Amino acid sequence: MTVESAPPGTGSRPSSELREPPLAGGGVPVLRHAWRMVRDPLAFMSGLRDHGEVVRLRLGPKTLYAVTSPELTGALALSTDFEIAGPLWESLEELLGKEGVATANGPRHRRQRRTMQPAFRLDAIPGYASVMEEEAHALTGRWQAGEIIDCTTEAFRIAVRVAARCLLRGAYMDERAERLSAALDTLFRGMYRRMVIPLGPLYRLPLPANRRFNGALADFHLIVDEIVAERRASGQKPNDLLTALLEATDGNGDPIGEQEIHDQVVAILTAGAETVGSTIMWLLHVLAEHPEHADKVRAEVESVTAGRPVAFEDVRALRHTNNVVIEAMRLRPAIWILTRRAVADTELGGYRIPAGSDIVYSPYAVQRDPRSYTDHLRFDPDRWLPERAKEVPKYAMTPFGVGNRKCPSDHFSMALLTLVTAALATSYHFEQTPGSKDGTRVGITLHPHDLRLRTTPRSRQG
Ligand code: HEM
Repeated sequence: MTVESAPPGTGSRPSSELREPPLAGGGVPVLRHAWRMVRDPLAFMSGLRDHGEVVRLRLGPKTLYAVTSPELTGALALSTDFEIAGPLWESLEELLGKEGVATANGPRHRRQRRTMQPAFRLDAIPGYASVMEEEAHALTGRWQAGEIIDCTTEAFRIAVRVAARCLLRGAYMDERAERLSAALDTLFRGMYRRMVIPLGPLYRLPLPANRRFNGALADFHLIVDEIVAERRASGQKPNDLLTALLEATDGNGDPIGEQEIHDQVVAILTAGAETVGSTIMWLLHVLAEHPEHADKVRAEVESVTAGRPVAFEDVRALRHTNNVVIEAMRLRPAIWILTRRAVADTELGGYRIPAGSDIVYSPYAVQRDPRSYTDHLRFDPDRWLPERAKEVPKYAMTPFGVGNRKCPSDHFSMALLTLVTAALATSYHFEQTPGSKDGTRVGITLHPHDLRLRTTPRSRQG
């Protein structure tokens, strides 16, 4: 589904031939394009493709560049002229720190990826089968017939529990999952605001919103410290990612510092919970709004399982269910915006990019581009059938990213999401209730504002 290697398209033209990217329209005085990035960021980012493959934006006094075509987003992600940095990562620094895998660059990043990789290798995923199955069935088993479920809480709970139980092996997570979910929701919302309106010291004023944000931040870091302290106090060293992090050494063979351990656990919990939680909310939305697809998923699952509860080993055979997940991620990618910084004077598509420039691009906009997808806004899982999928341009579908920063958890996440979708579709019909708000809430990730669904057990309706 995602693509790894293509020659970077940068840095090859003489600088005299390079052009200045055009300035995007729609700015207002002072805030310039930041206004649009707050008011209707998805439409704004999607509209940029009409101005060119690379366009200039102004967030207040700051200039940045937006890359809009699949080919150039691939080139950007694969080129060594760009590293992880820019407004997104700076706004996240208070949360992620500077020493974790999501924000590190260079040798430290390579070493951290090596430490993490074994936990996410394809052959490690079956080791998580029993937890994924238990959690998928616990999710649907908890609900009563006719109950109205709060999808935000339900989706975050399972996302946090699975990440914590599989990768940090903690029963202690049960009581902390709610706290973590609440803290992350406040933090991701506040961080998006800090990214597009970088007002620095104003965010330190003792206003209610800032106090809520700071409280959530403090609680989140406290939970992470508790997780590390409890594992150490237990004296146990199970074969999991937390043990790998605690035993990791630096380039000289010395143990890594406490800050790096802390930042690494933060990276796993934030990256793992928010993305999976948001995607499960959109999958619930799909099942409610497209009953024909819910029925098709159910029929596929029943043809594979012959009526027994769906299991991890069925995932491979659930092709259509898998395509439903991919299509949901195309239209509502959890990570809808990414940023990079140029580390050298360079170019993208014949446009000059000076060293130090911030670059932004949106998987959401790229994955909804009518030039890449016919009927681009239609929910059509069959576009991922092999004969049709090959028509999709390279880099036009990269919900897990591309290159050396690609999500290490793509196999883990796809297995979990397919299993959860199968369990949901075979257990219930879902319908939105009055008061449910399914509009898109834009933060660092995308999820519905407040999705509320009524559950009707499948066995009753057939
Ligand atoms: C990085 C998406 C689940 C851990 C990324 C990136 C994307 C992404 C797009 C690349 C960022 C970039 O290029 O700048 C997703 C989606 C998920 C998901 C859509 C599920 C629906 C997870 C889970 C975990 C995880 C479950 C861990 C438990 C990470 C980490 C990175 C990352 C550690 C940073 C990698 C690096 O910088 O080297 N993810 N992710 N992700 N993801 Fe995921």
